[in-house]
Amino acid sequence: MRELNTFGFDQTAEALLEVTEAEQLTDIYEDARLPRPFHVLGGGSNVLLTGPVLGTVLMNRIKGIELISEDDDIVRVRVGGGVVWHDWVLFAIAQGWCGVENLALIPGTVGAAPIQNIGAYGVEVKDVIDEVVAWHGALGKFIRLSALECRFGYRDSIFKQELKGEVFVTEVCFRLRKHAQLHTEYGAIREELQAMDAEPSVEQVAQAVIRIRRSKLPDPAQIGNAGSFFKNPVIDASLFESLLQRFSNMPSYAQPDGMVKLPAGWLIEYCGWKGFRDRDVGVHTRQALVLVNYGHATGAEIWNLSERIIASVQERFGIVLEREVQVW
Ligand code: EPU
Repeated sequence: MRELNTFGFDQTAEALLEVTEAEQLTDIYEDARLPRPFHVLGGGSNVLLTGPVLGTVLMNRIKGIELISEDDDIVRVRVGGGVVWHDWVLFAIAQGWCGVENLALIPGTVGAAPIQNIGAYGVEVKDVIDEVVAWHGALGKFIRLSALECRFGYRDSIFKQELKGEVFVTEVCFRLRKHAQLHTEYGAIREELQAMDAEPSVEQVAQAVIRIRRSKLPDPAQIGNAGSFFKNPVIDASLFESLLQRFSNMPSYAQPDGMVKLPAGWLIEYCGWKGFRDRDVGVHTRQALVLVNYGHATGAEIWNLSERIIASVQERFGIVLEREVQVW
């Protein structure tokens, strides 16, 4: 599995199968020779392999980008679950379509995007999803879920809850705009675009996002990692007020429902972990939310490091960090 997970862990799976057409899934799920359970893998950029994988890994390689309908303002586009996410973003930008530019350079595939509702720089994929089509293993049929039915939340969806382990996302249908409606309010993007006089284009926003990501986040091709390892905790306002008395410079983001989101990277850095390294496991030097494999680390070692980080953040702030990566 080493080439199939961006941490670069050298694990084995009992069986491995490439799925290139949605129609293959009926036979695959009926095939009694294939070891169970099934695990669906996209770009392998959000998994932590802690041991050999029991069962069959199904690699989503379903390709294709197809325009379904358009009017003066909106295009609806069907994209195969195995399309590389950033390739889809580049395709959309080249057509002049607006909506996914803030999500440029996120590793992984289109089929994985709705699972954890990927997000960056003020946009979440839920904002542009029309519908998700998936094979439901237990029902033995395809299901279609509207964005509402996907019950998207912050790095969350029905696919991580009731449907966890049950479905294989074959395609995602997006709604994008033909006229730019840009999201440039996120601090880092605003700073990147400040020098421009005119209103930036879709392409320029994507370029700004790409520059920011390259400056902060390690490239998995060079240093093994899975992006943010933890979710940013969302706490209630009264707990936040009491923390603020003790940590007056703590950054925070007020949520529409009155809760407060805290940057886990700040909490972890405050506890002294940023740049930590023990043999081949570590905490990235420029972004404390990213745990890294410098070479020959194992998933179990990264897991142990994450336990130590959770314990120290809990001790200092009384907040229990939740892992964002999927642990296999
Ligand atoms: N911060 C620190 N120290 C650090 C890192 C962050 O103090 O080492 C503080 C700073 O105050 C900074 C704030 O945290 O201003 C926010 O940092 P950043 O803009 O890097 O965003 P993040 O909250 O750490 C989230 C997402 C990222 C996404 C960025 C940009 C999560 C779990 N992570 O990170 O998503 O790219 O916002 O929108 O929500 C991912 O999910 O894998 C991912 C990379």
